Formats: sequence, structure tokens, C-alpha cells
Amino acid sequence: MSGNEHDDCVIDVRNVWTQFGTHVVHRDLNLCVRQGEVMSLVGGSGSGKSTLLREILGLEQPTRGEIRVLGVSLQHGVAEEIQALRNRWGMLFQEGAMFSALSVFENVALPLREMKTLDEDLIHDLVMLKLKMVDIEPRHASKMPSSLSGGMVKRVALARALSLEPELLFLDEPTAGLDPERSESFCKLIAYLKRELELTVVMVTHDLDTIVSISDRVAVLADQKIAALGTVAEVAQHPHPFIVEYFQGERGRRALTGLTA
Ligand SMILES: Nc1ncnc2c1ncn2[C@@H]1O[C@H](COP(=O)(O)OP(=O)(O)O)[C@@H](O)[C@H]1O
Ligand SMILES: [Mg+2]
Repeated sequence: MSGNEHDDCVIDVRNVWTQFGTHVVHRDLNLCVRQGEVMSLVGGSGSGKSTLLREILGLEQPTRGEIRVLGVSLQHGVAEEIQALRNRWGMLFQEGAMFSALSVFENVALPLREMKTLDEDLIHDLVMLKLKMVDIEPRHASKMPSSLSGGMVKRVALARALSLEPELLFLDEPTAGLDPERSESFCKLIAYLKRELELTVVMVTHDLDTIVSISDRVAVLADQKIAALGTVAEVAQHPHPFIVEYFQGERGRRALTGLTA
């Protein structure tokens, strides 16, 4: 193995430019997500967080540059290899996380059924195991999503994102809409699953409590690039105006209490 700086990046965004017409969203953006870390992606509205996430998931192509995921180039890789990546990551979307016409059980079973190789007994065991993992009792399996609380819906959606035992987990605003208590317990669950399943997690969020409680590192998207990268304590010291406002505001100071650089 060479001692290349890119060797331990499970997600490696290199010199990415994204342009919509004349609007440049990403200008020569670089980002390396390391194996086993929780990386939070923050930035103002319209700074290009969701676009970057979609590019990493191969749902959109950058104008220029390259993104490698688990060693596979989304731009120059073999089509079959890129396709195979889809079973190696799970995604928790902010909205529409569940199919409302399907029960909790069927929602979690869906990705397993799409594999077309698993028998019904095995699917049942895997689904119940995943539900247990996210702390959903078996009696809820037959319920419809509409009868669950917001916190439970998030956990079931998480069980589904984890059904194929992915190496990477992507979360878009996972705690939005949850009250502080549920938000905190959801963060604890993510931290627990990360340890148990040795996941690498990329999370878009603007919730500072969430960021502080589970991030190993934070990447700040501003000025069309990653303007700051480091631990929460390191990034909070950065002089960029967005960061100063974000971390040094009233909420920021409260969330950061007790952290030392
Ligand atoms: N398909 C698209 N066509 C044109 N502009 C887009 C498209 N997708 C995103 N944008 C623009 O790119 C910028 C970044 O969007 P987005 O990634 O959604 O930001 P964020 O998630 O950080 O709020 C915004 O100005 C948005 O309007
Ligand atoms: Mg967005």
C-alpha cells in the first residue's frame, strides 16, 4: 500500500465543481470522510449540502471533479461496481421516510425483498432483529406508519436504512421535528448503532445539540467549499463569519458548554 493521503477515506470528494447555469454551488470542493467516523455537514440554507449528499449517493453528477465511495469512482468506475455500492449504504431521508400503505414490518422488509434471494423466514428474522436494534417492540411490527409517533417513524426508517447491513449511513436532518428529549434519544441510538455496526455516518443537520452529541468531526460548507473541518471544538474556534454566528450565538454557546478545544 502506498501512504497516500486518500487511503483512509471511505468517501473521497476530489476537486468537485457543481454548477447550475451560471450559479456555482461547489467550487473545487474537497472532503475526506474516514472509516468509522460520524461526520456532520453544516452550512447555510442553499450552501449545497443536499446537492453534495446526492452527488455522493450517485443521484446527481458534479460538473467537474471526482467522488470515490468505498474505493469506487462514481465518475470513472465500472457500472456494475457503482450499482453494487447501493447495497453498501443506507439513507435516511428527511421527508417521506416510510411508505404509508405498508406496515412497519413491510417497510423494513422492502429492501430485503428487493434482493430476491432471501426466503420468508429469514426476512422475518432479519426484520425483527432490525426493529429490536432500534428499540421498536415486536407488537408494533404490524402497525401502519400513520399510527406511530414521529420519533418511532424515524426509528423504523432507520431500521429500514440498516436492513441490508450497510457500511455507510447517510442522514438528512435526522432530528428535525423531534422534541429535545426524543432528539437526544435518537442521537444515542445513532451512536450505539455506529459502535455496534462499525458504521461510517454522514449527517446533514443544523441542530447543534445533535452535532455536539455525536459528531467525530464537522465539515462546514461555505463560500462554495469546505470552509472549516475538524472536531466540534476546533471548528467552533474558526473565524469564518458563518461559523462565528452559528457557534457563538446563544444556542451555540449553550450546546458547546463543557467542550474544550
Ligand atoms: N437541480 C437544480 N437546478 C438548479 N439549481 C439547483 C438544483 N439543485 C440545487 N440547486 C441550487 O443549488 C443550491 C444548493 O442547493 P442545496 O444543495 O439544496 O442546498 P442546501 O441543502 O445546503 O440548502 C441552491 O441555490 C439551489 O437552489
Ligand atoms: Mg438541503
